[in-house]
Amino acid sequence: MKISKLKKNHILINGTVLDPFNGTEKKADIHIENGKIKEIGKISAPNNSEIIDCKNLFITHGFFDAHVHFREPGGEDKEDLNSGSMAALAGGFTGVCAMPNTDPPIDSPELTRYIIDRSKECPINIHPIGAVTKSQKGKELTEMGAMIAEGAIAFSDDGLPIADAKVMQNALEYSSMFDIPIINHAEDECLKADGVMHMGKVSTNLGLPSSPGITESSMVHRDLELAVHVGARLHVPHVSSARSVEHIKTLKKKSKKISAEVTAHHLYFTDEDLVSYNTNLKVAPPIRSEKDKKALIAAVKNGTIDCIATDHAPHTIEEKEGTFDIAPFGMIGLETCFAAVNKILVYENKMDQMSLVKLLTVNPRRIMGVEQDLFSVGTNAEIVIYDPSEDWKFSKNNIFSKSHNSPFINKNLKGKIKATIVKGHISSQD
Ligand code: DOR
Repeated sequence: MKISKLKKNHILINGTVLDPFNGTEKKADIHIENGKIKEIGKISAPNNSEIIDCKNLFITHGFFDAHVHFREPGGEDKEDLNSGSMAALAGGFTGVCAMPNTDPPIDSPELTRYIIDRSKECPINIHPIGAVTKSQKGKELTEMGAMIAEGAIAFSDDGLPIADAKVMQNALEYSSMFDIPIINHAEDECLKADGVMHMGKVSTNLGLPSSPGITESSMVHRDLELAVHVGARLHVPHVSSARSVEHIKTLKKKSKKISAEVTAHHLYFTDEDLVSYNTNLKVAPPIRSEKDKKALIAAVKNGTIDCIATDHAPHTIEEKEGTFDIAPFGMIGLETCFAAVNKILVYENKMDQMSLVKLLTVNPRRIMGVEQDLFSVGTNAEIVIYDPSEDWKFSKNNIFSKSHNSPFINKNLKGKIKATIVKGHISSQD
């Protein structure tokens, strides 16, 4: 990947411009001056402009991932904010929200400030999600107000569920004072027990301990009920089961403050793929059945699920080389997200490009309270340029994360990121 500073004038010509904020698609040029959107239309380039020919390519807002694990501080052997940024750029992401399950967890105003300060040195926009409870122990709430003042964008104990319903209720009440979302990793730990995959025929055949869909959906239902009761904002992360989708659909009718996300891997794989015993497919919540996958795809298409996230979760080769029962949960996902969901949603399930792009841009930005009108004049340029129809095989050479725990290696994907523009730089591949 090549990263260079933008010239004073950069003109993107001959591309199809998708504006997910205004819902428009047109052939147009984009003039970027000093890193900001100057004009979109027919442009006569000033002298010494850098021209980028975008023939047969789509140009849209840089993607926004509401859910990544960048492991800094404490897990820099797996990822740090810089290496995570490189993976993001390769995947067309210009903004991400970093989960707080670091070591130590981001559970104080000081640690929130640390992420904000470090993100200023990184080539993408990184927004910290603060922990809901101190040390993510599920008991005592963090100082949310002070953390928001330092830049926390939402709160989550992700990786760990908030088991105690009263703590969850208090968290929703506290966060509702600031109209900031709570994101709970919904898996009932008693039902999950030592489960490492979805419970069904495949887990029986493989002889692996498993947990059923209600492990998630029962807690999703509790969270939704609490959010409606309190009138607070709840964002349901990495929805994996058909039953959770049903609950979200029903309870969304009672509150406009509920949103939900699905990962690229829950849309792409099913538990049948685990017959390979590939530990890179071990994630929490687990990849479920074909029926669940179909329900997730339908939910994305009918708007029950609002956005796509990666849950990019880097782990070392040594850890993932352990047997299935001891390897940690998680896979990386930033580099493959677009090509995976473009293949599944657009090419296999007839979604249009605009709808897909909204799931990766305006929708997650709206949920996280970040500026969404990125093509208005004077806005800092955050742009992705991609080929929607290129077929390619994902390989280790396409990984920019420090970790390589991807089950997409050697998979044929569709749609390729060509360039990402953010913070006055352009990164390009090919
Ligand atoms: O698979 C997962 N890995 N799910 C999570 O929620 C946490 C994540 C991690 O931090 O590794």
